[in-house]
Order: sequence, then structure tokens, then C-alpha cells
Amino acid sequence: NVPIIAIDGPSGSGKGTLCQTLARHFGWHLLDSGALYRLTGMAADRHGIALNDELAVAELAKNLDVQFVPGADGEPTLVLLEGDDVSGELRTEKTGLLASKVAVLGAVRDALLQRQRDFAQLPGLVADGRDMGTVVFTDAPLKIFLTASAEERAERRYKQLKSKGDNVNLATLLMEIQARDKRDSERELAPLKPAADAIQLDSSGLGIEEVFERVLAEAKI
Ligand code: CDP
Repeated sequence: NVPIIAIDGPSGSGKGTLCQTLARHFGWHLLDSGALYRLTGMAADRHGIALNDELAVAELAKNLDVQFVPGADGEPTLVLLEGDDVSGELRTEKTGLLASKVAVLGAVRDALLQRQRDFAQLPGLVADGRDMGTVVFTDAPLKIFLTASAEERAERRYKQLKSKGDNVNLATLLMEIQARDKRDSERELAPLKPAADAIQLDSSGLGIEEVFERVLAEAKI
């Protein structure tokens, strides 16, 4: 039985950093499920496939040619899509929007389901997403639903993108985050919502360290 911590929440709630910190702390595997949706959206874009062509996009999701290449000493992991380094493009808001569009398609979600479950390997898994606790790992003994106000999430994303040298605008980011929240929580399939047995944590005003400590206190591992 593989121990799993399922962490769900909206864009910019700090899930990504929290999950990386937890995975490193326990020495566990990490599933960034959003990256799979992002890569599927990017693949559709590259191949000129319409984002509402459910079967064609699902076919891409099934056959995604992706490699995660761990970086040497502390360098970030490289992500290769069909052999091309897409690490930078993967995290942009444009790609996030593509991801949220393909994520509404049932056949795409089905195509990615087993690929995600395959990450559950010893010694353990930290799973980051929108439906980790509600769909993909319903038996996970610890489920966290991490939130923060839309304003704070936009501000965090702003700082993150700015530090990478991206030319971003706070008001635009807030609008994009709200649009993505709406699409993610109002969609029919696997809408963004806390699992019945999830612990809800509002990270507004909390630092990375404080959120990490709180989850650690819940983990009892
Ligand atoms: O980093 P951020 O939270 O902005 O986005 P992400 O976790 O990379 O996810 C990008 C998009 O993929 C989300 O807005 C969702 O529409 C979709 N997604 C999903 O539907 N289910 C997941 N388990 C993960 C992501």
C-alpha cells in the first residue's frame, strides 16, 4: 500500500511549491498532474488540433511523447515534448489556458487517468492537481484542499512570472486566474472542489514554511 498525499486547489494557491517541499522532505515521488494537462494542450496547439476535438485531443493525451530529464545539481527538471525542450513554455499562462480547455474533455481526463495512477509507487507519492482527492486517488489517507484569495494568488503568480523576466500585468493575471477558476469549478467533469474528507487550508497571508508545517502536522508520518 503506497502512502499518498493528495493536494488540490486553484491556480496560485501554492500547491506546486508545497508539493515539491513535501516530496523532498519525505523522499517521495511527485506527480504534477497539471503538467500532463498543459502538455496535452501544447501538443494540440502544435499539431493544429482544435481544442474541442475531443477524440483527437484524447488520442494525443494517450500517446504523449514526454520526457522529464532531472537537472544536474539543483538545476530544474527539463521537460521535453516530442524531443523539444518546452520547460519554459510549459509554465506560461497561455499554456495554463490551453490546459484548462482540454481539461473539460472527458476522453482526455480518461486518457490521463492511468498515467497518473502509475505514479503511485513506493516509498510514497505527493500528488498535485485539481481532482487528486476526488477522482484519481480517492483512497489517499491525507487530502489537503489549499486555497487563497484570488487577489493573493494573482499577486503570487505576478511575482513568480516577473522574476522569470516575463512581461506581465497584475490586473490581466487576476482576470485570467478568475476565468480559469470559473472554468475549473463549473465544469461538469471532475470540477475543482474539496473531497468530502479533505482538510481545507487557506494559505492567504501564510508563507511557504508555515503551510508546510501545518500539512506536516496533519501528516503524522
Ligand atoms: O499551476 P496552476 O495551478 O496554475 O495550473 P496547473 O496545476 O498546471 O493546471 C493547469 C490546468 O489544468 C488547470 O487550470 C485545470 O484546468 C487543469 N487540471 C485539471 O483539470 N486537473 C488536474 N488534476 C490538474 C490540472
